[in-house]
Amino acid sequence: MSHLTKNYNRKKISFTRGKGSFLYATNGRKYLDFVQGIAVNSLGHSHPKLIKVINEQSKKLWHVSNSFIIPEGEELAKKLAKKTFADFVLFQNSGAEATEAAIKIARRYFFSIGKPNKNRIICIKNSFHGRTLAAIYASGSKKMTEGFGPKIGGFDHFNFGDHKKLKKLINKNTAAIMVETIMGEGGIKIIPDWCLKELRKLCNKKKILLILDEVQCGVGRTGDFFAFEKSKIKPDIVPIAKGIGGGFPIGAVLMSKKVASCMTVGTHGSTFGGNPLAMKVGAAVLDIVSKKSFLNNIKKNSKYFHDELNKIKEEFPKIVKEIRGRGFLIGLQLYKDQTNFIRNLMKNKLLTIRASENVVRILPPLNVKRNEIDQALKILKKVCLQIN
Ligand SMILES: Cc1ncc(COP(=O)(O)O)c(C=O)c1O
Repeated sequence: MSHLTKNYNRKKISFTRGKGSFLYATNGRKYLDFVQGIAVNSLGHSHPKLIKVINEQSKKLWHVSNSFIIPEGEELAKKLAKKTFADFVLFQNSGAEATEAAIKIARRYFFSIGKPNKNRIICIKNSFHGRTLAAIYASGSKKMTEGFGPKIGGFDHFNFGDHKKLKKLINKNTAAIMVETIMGEGGIKIIPDWCLKELRKLCNKKKILLILDEVQCGVGRTGDFFAFEKSKIKPDIVPIAKGIGGGFPIGAVLMSKKVASCMTVGTHGSTFGGNPLAMKVGAAVLDIVSKKSFLNNIKKNSKYFHDELNKIKEEFPKIVKEIRGRGFLIGLQLYKDQTNFIRNLMKNKLLTIRASENVVRILPPLNVKRNEIDQALKILKKVCLQIN
């Protein structure tokens, strides 16, 4: 009998080890892992550089309190500031903590400039910003909030793409608009670049902040370091997590100097956030993922993957409705519920995961090899044929 709570619908499989794109299961089988901890293991399993860094740092120092200077955190923040729009960084341990902190920062910013009533955040209905109380009410889905009342107020919602409603929602109490640049759990739905530009303009006009949640789509996943980069806009606040730790729990909030001015002593804190061990791993991941050649490789290989997936879609027009996403954040949308499809992929030793709107989410490691993509394509095609 398991003494773990039953809040996860776990597949009846467990693993003993992982290497690169593969997981080795206790049943003796080797699986192509295109879940990677849901976009977490950005460099695959057991990456030698990360093993080295973790080994070295584990012999020196794991944890010290944030009441002391942590040079490893200074170093990672410096690297992030150098490579991104951000001037300042706040380290956390997970995506939900990062989005929750982003909400706090937006509110505190307006408080700090003498506008404490500007505290409402506008979000997309049925988006996903994590599982803390504020994050579930920010996400605005019944499924996540049911039974967890009283409701946490301060969030207004519009449906994806409903620009009219969004504009209507902005009032004198609005502090920020917070959206996922690409909705992950929501079905791999991209906010188009022109739309991001309009969002930026709208926020400038209304003097409110733009928060882009890049917890799932950021850190190289799309072939750019951030998914919003193609739009050439600068957000005010960006929570990241997942990929930056390469499997080690790290969250971070990146922000502009203007916004960071509100983060005075005592405004926020975290016992574990920014510990030396996590920071060293984060810096090692960042060094690899932010390299132009690495990002170009993601672009090239993911284009191939998308092209081939589109061929499968054309071959099975009654099964596959749409290929969604960008880079290695891929959604294969089916006409029917995807449960069976995902089960069949797993039977054929390819691991994927569901998202809303009948989407099979495909999240290979960012350094996946071309022959591994081919292997996945072969399995996907085989399952389409079986279902046909
Ligand atoms: C866009 C987005 N934001 C926030 C989160 C929450 O992250 P975590 O599960 O690390 O708390 C997730 C997790 O899937 C996410 O996809």
